[in-house]
Amino acid sequence: MKAVVINQNGDSSVLQLQDVPQPVPDHHDVLIRVYATSINPLDWKLRAGFSKWLPGKFPRILGAECAGEVVATGLMVTDFRPGDRVVAELGLDGGGYAEYALAHQKNVVKLPDDLDYVPAAAIPIAGLTALQALRDLGHLRPGDQVLINGAAGGVGTFAVQIACILGGRVTAVCSDRHTDLVRRLGAGRVIDYRKEDFTQLPDRYKIIFDTVSKRSFSECKKVLTDDGIYIATVPSAAQLFQDVVTTFTNQKTDTIAMKFSKDDMHWLLTLVAAGRLEPVIEHVYLLPEIAKAHQHSEAGHATGKLVVAINHSDEEK
Ligand SMILES: NC(=O)c1ccc[n+]([C@@H]2O[C@H](COP(=O)([O-])OP(=O)(O)OC[C@H]3O[C@@H](n4cnc5c(N)ncnc54)[C@H](OP(=O)(O)O)[C@@H]3O)[C@@H](O)[C@H]2O)c1
Repeated sequence: MKAVVINQNGDSSVLQLQDVPQPVPDHHDVLIRVYATSINPLDWKLRAGFSKWLPGKFPRILGAECAGEVVATGLMVTDFRPGDRVVAELGLDGGGYAEYALAHQKNVVKLPDDLDYVPAAAIPIAGLTALQALRDLGHLRPGDQVLINGAAGGVGTFAVQIACILGGRVTAVCSDRHTDLVRRLGAGRVIDYRKEDFTQLPDRYKIIFDTVSKRSFSECKKVLTDDGIYIATVPSAAQLFQDVVTTFTNQKTDTIAMKFSKDDMHWLLTLVAAGRLEPVIEHVYLLPEIAKAHQHSEAGHATGKLVVAINHSDEEK
């Protein structure tokens, strides 16, 4: 099968399109014919060097989520069968940048009939991160003032919409080229971080979700309510230290660690299929263009998600 493989850590030039053996499902695995995968910052962090700390060596296939059709299942899999249309989270093992990928059955969910593979592949990681941060760490209640920093990114575009669905009153922070987008997604107020620093303005928020971890709890404290929380996405040492310290204070900070949940995934898919939640997709690349997609993601200003559509070599013949 065709796959984009890395044989070493480095810049985007280490991403190489190669022929590799098709994976074989173990007892609990589902083998998926991948039609779409999406880029997450995790991918280029792993590519650049972080994968050194993980078990398993090169060649490595990145890609932490995918959507496609089940073609085979392991002996212990009873909920899926060939032909099922599914979306899956592949985690740090990756494998999504390929014509076929293996997913553990606990990380696979069937797709609603009317949902295409490209939008489906954009949902798991960014959508679940946004939902779990706002609901489980932020305990968002209707009427809460919520600030989303990085509102135009993959996590941010889901966060703005989910915060609105949960009843929050949303202030979005992004550059001015994204003002119309985040307003359309539901933000009542937009702050251009290049012109104004929200931490210096008088408004206070119950939840500050810093989807891009560009600020810090210390900077945000004065614009949090007395019982407010600053939520980060990147577990730096300084952030994790503050997470512990603030277990003893009224104002809190915490770092989201997304966990795949079938229930949460069903909720997101149902809203998307109903047209109430939109996976915002800036561009759909093809498998040989993954290096270009990495460069764009790594530059830090993607609009929503970058998705990769996979055309199968056996279908082209
Ligand atoms: N802990 C977890 O479980 C978890 C899960 C998922 C993701 N993450 C992490 O979360 C982070 C965000 O992921 P993502 O997929 O949302 O990234 P992304 O899509 O690449 O984010 C891009 C967005 O960041 C915005 N941005 C850049 N600089 C900014 C600044 N100074 N202030 C405000 N916004 C700024 C850009 O907006 P403009 O173009 O308007 O500047 C752009 O829309 C990554 O570090 C990722 O690894 C963590």
